[in-house]
Amino acid sequence: MNVVLASFLLALVWPSDGLLWRQDAQRDAHPRLASLIASLNQTARLKLGSGARSSAPYLRSLEATLLAMAQNTSQIPSQLLHGVKSDVMTMVSNELKPRIITEHSQIQSQIAEFSGLFAKCEEVRGVGLNESYSEQQAIPVLIANHKACRKQESALQDRLSACRTALQSSRLVDASTCESARLLDRIPEASVCSALNGESAEAYHQRMLDVFRDRLKNIRIRRLLCQNTTGALHLQESACDTQAREVEEQRTSCNLMQRQLDASACDLSMSMNTTCSKYQACRSQATLSYDLVRNTVKARESNLHDEWKALKHIECILEAMVGSNIMSAAQECGRAIYSVAHLMVVYITMPPCQACEDLAEVPGTADYNATVFADIPANAPVTECAASCCFT
Ligand SMILES: *[C@@H]1O[C@H](CO)[C@@H](O)[C@H](O)[C@H]1NC(C)=O
Ligand SMILES: *[C@@H]1O[C@H](CO)[C@@H](O)[C@H](O)[C@H]1NC(C)=O
Ligand SMILES: *[C@@H]1O[C@H](CO)[C@@H](O)[C@H](O)[C@H]1NC(C)=O
Ligand SMILES: *[C@@H]1O[C@H](CO)[C@@H](O)[C@H](O)[C@H]1NC(C)=O
Ligand SMILES: *[C@@H]1O[C@H](CO)[C@@H](O)[C@H](O)[C@H]1NC(C)=O
Ligand SMILES: *[C@@H]1O[C@H](CO)[C@@H](O)[C@H](O)[C@H]1NC(C)=O
Repeated sequence: MNVVLASFLLALVWPSDGLLWRQDAQRDAHPRLASLIASLNQTARLKLGSGARSSAPYLRSLEATLLAMAQNTSQIPSQLLHGVKSDVMTMVSNELKPRIITEHSQIQSQIAEFSGLFAKCEEVRGVGLNESYSEQQAIPVLIANHKACRKQESALQDRLSACRTALQSSRLVDASTCESARLLDRIPEASVCSALNGESAEAYHQRMLDVFRDRLKNIRIRRLLCQNTTGALHLQESACDTQAREVEEQRTSCNLMQRQLDASACDLSMSMNTTCSKYQACRSQATLSYDLVRNTVKARESNLHDEWKALKHIECILEAMVGSNIMSAAQECGRAIYSVAHLMVVYITMPPCQACEDLAEVPGTADYNATVFADIPANAPVTECAASCCFT
């Protein structure tokens, strides 16, 4: 008998409080039979012990006893022999075989559960990618809005530059008109009032009147001109100030848009990475525990096969013991091949581990700048990235 039978006899069905054999004083009269019963009893009681002890010695004696009995059944009353056979057969078919079949379906379902576990990992990944996908769809809109904002900022900046250029020339004009007003705005030198040679008093006064009228007119005109250009300059200045404020306001709102864009891209990159690490953790955990479980199941499966074959062998010997040609039938039992096809465990194939997806353009990188900030006008420059992934 196979030594592996020990494990099922230890682990399975034997009632712990002694065997259920019919107590039969007749059995004690036959030493071989008594020894068989005692072996079974000891094996059964082993189950109560630490579990570490092997029942192999008892099983070997069980097998030896059975074989010896098979050779010597003529000495045992046939009725007694049939009683023992029927007891053991009943035990084998009612308890030991069903236990093996139950345990086979238990280990089979342990393996089958892993299909679900691996599928769960794929689902974790799928859900994560779907979330990323909807986040991803929002980003092109943010990019386009930001770009339009910077273009508007650039146009306002152009207008402001033109305003400042005009302001510059207004300043020059104003400086020159007011300078010429200042030059004229003075009391003439005494020599202006001297009479010409031989000039009559009347001619002199007439000439002086003309000179002073001209001078006065010039003083007034120049002063008005200066006031006019200064007034124009102030208007220009305030126009440029207003435009500068508009540029600032536009820039503030573009910076805000950029911040939103950077943050969204950052979140997307982060959530893709999170999905990836969750998936990898899920896979490695599932793989690790599947390997562990598969190893124990394989060992258990192989034991179950051996146990099944051993039970079939016992049944065969018992059958031989009550037959007519005992010795040749017992030898047949030794040569027989017992199928364990119904006790094969079907193992799962692990689905291949998917490669991780991550965002190529992470804010702060050259790739991001090249993709997201392409065609941003130079006079409306983007601001520093303030998103969390720019500080790692
Ligand atoms: C089994 O062994 C125990 C303890 O040695 C004993 O009390 C019991 O009677 C035995 N049972 C049989 C069926 O021999
Ligand atoms: C049959 O059993 C008896 C006692 O149990 C033993 O003395 C004898 O040798 C056995 N015969 C055979 C053929 O094994
Ligand atoms: C992902 O989204 C697609 C289409 O929106 C859907 O068919 C699929 O079931 C989703 N997958 C998961 C895992 O949620
Ligand atoms: C300046 O003079 C021009 C005509 O010479 C006139 O049209 C304009 O209104 C004046 N501007 C101011 C601010 O006085
Ligand atoms: C995501 O992972 C990639 C690749 O490991 C890395 O370059 C990137 O910085 C990560 N993103 C974030 C937001 O940490
Ligand atoms: C990308 O642009 C930002 C401005 O938002 C700048 O601070 C950063 O240095 C750029 N990165 C690279 C790699 O060019």
